Amino acid sequence: MTEKVQRHYDEMAEVYDRRYDRGQGRSYHEHISEQVMDWLPPGGRLLDIGCGTGLFVERYCERGGKAVGLDLSPKMIERARDRCASAEWTVGTGDSLPFRDDIFDAASSLLAFSYFRDPDRMLAEAIRVLRPGGRLTLCTLGRNFFTAGLPAIHTLGELAHVRQVGMGSFGERYYSERQMTELFARAGFADVRVRRCSFAHLNLAPPVYRLARKVEPIVERRLPYLAYNLVASGKKPHDGR
Ligand SMILES: C[S@@+](CC[C@H](N)C(=O)[O-])C[C@H]1O[C@@H](n2cnc3c(N)ncnc32)[C@H](O)[C@@H]1O
Repeated sequence: MTEKVQRHYDEMAEVYDRRYDRGQGRSYHEHISEQVMDWLPPGGRLLDIGCGTGLFVERYCERGGKAVGLDLSPKMIERARDRCASAEWTVGTGDSLPFRDDIFDAASSLLAFSYFRDPDRMLAEAIRVLRPGGRLTLCTLGRNFFTAGLPAIHTLGELAHVRQVGMGSFGERYYSERQMTELFARAGFADVRVRRCSFAHLNLAPPVYRLARKVEPIVERRLPYLAYNLVASGKKPHDGR
């Protein structure tokens, strides 16, 4: 399955930024980046797991941080390298990180966690490479009303040969707030926080999207069950792994 995901993103590398670095896609990605950034220490050395074309790494570096981006897909990494020469880039898998223990101040992962067949292993690797006191924050689709039908839609899309970012049967996994909290706690993270975010979906028609963006902050604060992504974060304890 990992090879299938890699092949998909190698094929999508050329068009990926059209979805997430333009128009509605860009404002959606900026929004989730801010949510992740809010729960990361500023200015340290970051590892971004499943970094894709480097959208988040670029933003982190623009704010004075240093970053390493890691992704399964060599083609996505090529794009990322072109985007941000000041960062370091590595092809690899998040469940077996090619780094020593305790070397990053922060770790992030945006829109990639759902692809991990063994989320415990990914989190164990993330906590291993964080220095004590370092923090992992990720953003991924939550398990909720909006994502319940996605596996079927993705399978149908694959059968119909729809060529679109993320379209395919990859056995993606979505978690509830409680499941995510348990995953982080089981991996040994302390100060675990999970919240829902993202109400305005980038597939909405432009006028509806603009309206949804306006009410997004109210929905996220007052009606979070209407948001479809999860942001989850945890700190590596000083006495921990
Ligand atoms: C939807 S894209 C998100 C990219 C980027 N984080 C962003 O926010 O634009 C998902 C990315 O996760 C990567 N990915 C999936 N499984 C992975 C794994 N096991 N290890 C590393 N990267 C992985 C894919 O290659 C792809 O680039």
